Amino acid sequence: MPEKDFAPIENDYAFFMAHATEAESDIVAYQRELADFLLDRTSIRMLDFGCGNGDFSAPLLNALNLPPEVLYLSLCEPVTHQLDQAAERVARFSHHSVETLEDVSSAKDQQFDLILSNHVLYYVQDLSQTIGEMRRTLQPEGKLAFAIANAENVIVAIWKAGFALINQPVPYYMSEDVQRVLAEQGFAVQKTEAKFQMRFPDSEENRMKILRFCFGHHLEGIPLPQLLGMFDPYQQDGTIVIDTYSDHLLAELKPEG
Ligand SMILES: C[S@@+](CC[C@H](N)C(=O)[O-])C[C@H]1O[C@@H](n2cnc3c(N)ncnc32)[C@H](O)[C@@H]1O
Repeated sequence: MPEKDFAPIENDYAFFMAHATEAESDIVAYQRELADFLLDRTSIRMLDFGCGNGDFSAPLLNALNLPPEVLYLSLCEPVTHQLDQAAERVARFSHHSVETLEDVSSAKDQQFDLILSNHVLYYVQDLSQTIGEMRRTLQPEGKLAFAIANAENVIVAIWKAGFALINQPVPYYMSEDVQRVLAEQGFAVQKTEAKFQMRFPDSEENRMKILRFCFGHHLEGIPLPQLLGMFDPYQQDGTIVIDTYSDHLLAELKPEG
């Protein structure tokens, strides 16, 4: 089981997605950073690592508008019913059958041109091992494209404050960890930022939805009144409004030398 099981919190994640501009902002960032790399290729082998139910993958592929005969898609997602849903949703973007993987280590012989992972690397068990698997399955000229929150992000600040209430460090990785591991494994990284807004009608139930998404099974052990109160500074006339940003990391292997 991954560190954070998204099956029990899928409705809470859907609520976050429906009330944040994060996905739109990430799509614009990927379009910008991948435009040159994707231009005029005769084939693109792409892995979407941690695709969820395809709610993000499908609009992303729609926006990238790649010729379907050129695109070979692989999806990796531990929640199996979401993996199946995602495979159905993205099938129309490729003329080739979509490969589904529950674990990236089962990608045996692939050589991907692009491994994209949108807000997933927080939750892997061992970041060095996961990036090592990506390195193993990446073409020498291939790219890694990640979106991941950094230590300044408001959700990360809520994680830190929440886990501090039970004297625990945040059990998830963030952008700074990913940048360190990429450098250790010989990648050159370009970093940009994607700003987004979270906006939802203020109610205890809506605050709870975001908290369940943020903390998963850890929520049971954390005192709720303090956690619910963390939204107070973002209350504006009955609406919670949070402006924040995440990092986009575009990485490629440095030439050996
Ligand atoms: C925040 S969601 C992002 C989903 C999708 N990429 C998107 O942008 O909507 C995180 C996803 O990572 C998946 N995940 C968690 N641990 C994983 C792991 N070890 N390997 C691959 N995916 C994982 C979860 O099941 C979940 O679908």
